[in-house]
Formats: sequence, C-alpha cells, structure tokens
Amino acid sequence: MRAAVRQQLDPSIRSNDTREFQQALRAKIVGQEEGVQALVDLYQVFCAGLNSPGRPVGNLLFLGPTGSGKTRIVEAAAEILFSDPRLVIKVDCAEFQHSHEIAKLIGSPPGYLGHRETHPLITQEALTASHTDKLKLSFLLFDEIEKASDALWQLLLGMLDKATLTLGDNRRVDLSQTVIFMTSNLGGADISDLFAGGYGFVKSADKPQNDIDEKVERTAVEAARRKFSPEFMNRLDKLVVFHPLKRAELEAVLDIELGLVQKRVLDTATGKFLFRVTGREFLLREGTDQRYGARHLKRAIERHLVYPLANLLATQQVRMGDVVRVDWDGQHDHLTFVREREGALVAPDGTETESTAVTETADGLGKGTPQEAVPEEAANLPALPPSPGPAVARQPLQGRKKDGR
Ligand SMILES: Nc1ncnc2c1ncn2[C@@H]1O[C@H](COP(=O)(O)OP(=O)(O)OP(=O)(O)O)[C@@H](O)[C@H]1O
Ligand SMILES: [Mg+2]
Repeated sequence: MRAAVRQQLDPSIRSNDTREFQQALRAKIVGQEEGVQALVDLYQVFCAGLNSPGRPVGNLLFLGPTGSGKTRIVEAAAEILFSDPRLVIKVDCAEFQHSHEIAKLIGSPPGYLGHRETHPLITQEALTASHTDKLKLSFLLFDEIEKASDALWQLLLGMLDKATLTLGDNRRVDLSQTVIFMTSNLGGADISDLFAGGYGFVKSADKPQNDIDEKVERTAVEAARRKFSPEFMNRLDKLVVFHPLKRAELEAVLDIELGLVQKRVLDTATGKFLFRVTGREFLLREGTDQRYGARHLKRAIERHLVYPLANLLATQQVRMGDVVRVDWDGQHDHLTFVREREGALVAPDGTETESTAVTETADGLGKGTPQEAVPEEAANLPALPPSPGPAVARQPLQGRKKDGR
C-alpha cells in the first residue's frame, strides 16, 4: 500500500491561461477591479469544467453610472477570448419594450405572417459563432435591462434559471455554455449626485475612499432591489457595482483610446505614421466628466483627432513614417498638428526602426521615444511638455477645415 503523502495545496494559484486573460483584461479596463475579478473567476471555473450543469456559466448583473465600463468589459473580454468583440450577442432591451417586439429576438411561430423573414437574434448558431477549438464559450449581453418589457423579463427569467430558450418555431437554444451579462445604470444618477454633492474627485480626510465606495455600492444595490423582483435577484450569481471613474482613471482610459487610434493609423495601407498628443487635457475636457464618465471620449477623439488626421492623410500632408505632434492651442481652444519628423521608417508592428530625418533630442523627442509604437504601452509613457523645443524645423499642418473642424 502506498504511504499517504500529505501536501499542503494552494487553491489561490490560477492557471497560466487565466492569468493571461486577467492581464489582458486589465490592460483594456481601467479600475473596476471587482468586475475584472468576476470575469476571471468565471473563466477559471469554466476552464476547469466546474460550472453547474443545466445553468448558464454565469449570470452577472453590472450596475453603476453611465460611461464606467459595464458594456466595455464584456466587449474587451470577447476581444481577448474570441478575438472579436462582435461575437457578443447584444440585446438592447430598450428596443424590446413592447411585447410584440419579442419576435425580433426569438422569431415568430411558423404560420405567422412574415415568419420566414424574422431572423431571431438569439440562436444556437449565433452562440456557437464565438466557439474556438480551445474554448466553447459564448457571451449574451442584455443592456439596460430596466427597460425590458414584461415579455422579455419572462424570457430572461427562464434563461437565467434553466439555461434554455425556446424559439418561436419551438427550436431550443442551450445556454449552458453561455455567460449571461446584464447591465443597468439604475441608481447611476444618484451615484453621480453623491459625487456632485461634495465627494468630488479628491478623497478628503473625513470621507475616506472606503466610505465612498461603500455608499456607491449601497446606492446601486438599493436601487436594484427596489426595481427588480426577488425572483430575479435570486437568480444572479454576482452583482457587480461599477464605480464612477476618477480623474486619473479617465486619463488612463484616454491613453488606451489614443493607443487604439494609433493602431488604426498603423493598420492603414499607406498612412503608417506616428502621432503623439500633448493636448490630452483638451480631449479629457471634451470627452469625459463626472456625470457621463468616459461616455463621450470616443466621440471627442474622433472629432478632434481622427477627422483632422484623416484630412492630413488624404491631402498627403502626412506620409508614411512621419511623426506628428498634436498640441493644444489654448488661445483658439483647439488642437494643432505639427510634423515633428519626416519619413522615419516604421516596421509593420509599428515600431520605429530608423529615422531618415532630423535626429534631435532637445525636447525629448529623440529616436526610440515614440510612445505609440505598441498601443498598450502608450499609456505608460509620459506626456510631452506643452511647448516644443527649438531643435527641429517643425511644420504646422492644416488638418482642420475652415470652420474649425
Ligand atoms: N473602466 C473603463 N476602462 C476602459 N475604458 C472605459 C472604462 N469605462 C469607460 N470606458 C470607455 O468609455 C466608453 C463607454 O463605456 P461603456 O460603454 O462601458 O459605458 P457603460 O458603463 O456601459 O455606460 P451605459 O450605462 O451608459 O451603457 C467605452 O467604450 C470605453 O471606451
Ligand atoms: Mg452600456
């Protein structure tokens, strides 16, 4: 008989896969640690095959104010796990407020007028589209569930409980390999008011961060309990409250978004140039605030950065390998575009390999410093000082149209 070997085990160690997932998610999502952990835990349980049979892999409710990352975290997880955020099946509950609109979701019964023309949104095929050889997992997202009609609620309750959905034509959809995410900004306005009412960005001595966090959570959970039935609340595996983003977090979100724009630029066929933004303050002001979080950030970036860059490219003021610097002109309150360097060679992965133009270091723009080479890392690089140094012959560019756009 073999002697028993007693060995202390460590259940807190995660698999490499899970650790990689966690890291990748952290790179895309700023703060919201509880949300990140909830996803990572689920992933680990699913990979180990320990999710409950006959139930969805997880039923998660995300609460919190607008623009805090509730929808983004689901898309980000899909980008990482399925390589495509569009593989999340997204049900915008506001579109299904009338019970007859349910047909768009599950199809209408055979024999009904237009039966063949309705293509249900939630089908087994749509769910398996995200499956890979390694991972047979799907994401189903119900956004703004507080707006769902009674008919949709009934469907949802069934899905959360039994992990099945019966379509209009009686086909069954199996949701036992699906995570069901639900988001709502119920209580979001109250939370923003908490901040507007004196909590502000800075933690003060008599209102420690823990108190604020607790109050935010209580406000959201109370709002949910008032609105949603106990039947629904009991079917949730986890309720995560997303917190309003603080100033430093909004800055980090801006850096991530700028990194994504740089990646888009590097992915174009002819326009592989690098840009660096010193006018971040302006974009932050235009795109973020305490009430709307980072909700309008993308729009501000498109309007003030992407459109002008597109103009510069289309008019060949900027060419492959250039380095463009984007500053804030305080007097006119807009961004200005200046070519810092010409024709630096950019490798396909976006790293600058060699500069064919001026090599200068006076203002810290020396070779090897472009912050945008690897978008994820862009966030870590320091912003440049607002006033350019004198060493390079800079060339102002005209990305704006006459109307100031
Ligand atoms: N924590 C975050 N980390 C990274 N990006 C974020 C974060 N929060 C917001 N963003 C950015 O802001 C945009 C809007 O966020 P998101 O769509 O997730 O808001 P939401 O919380 O779902 O709000 P709503 O309740 O209005 O739907 C995202 O696309 C993303 O660019
Ligand atoms: Mg959302």
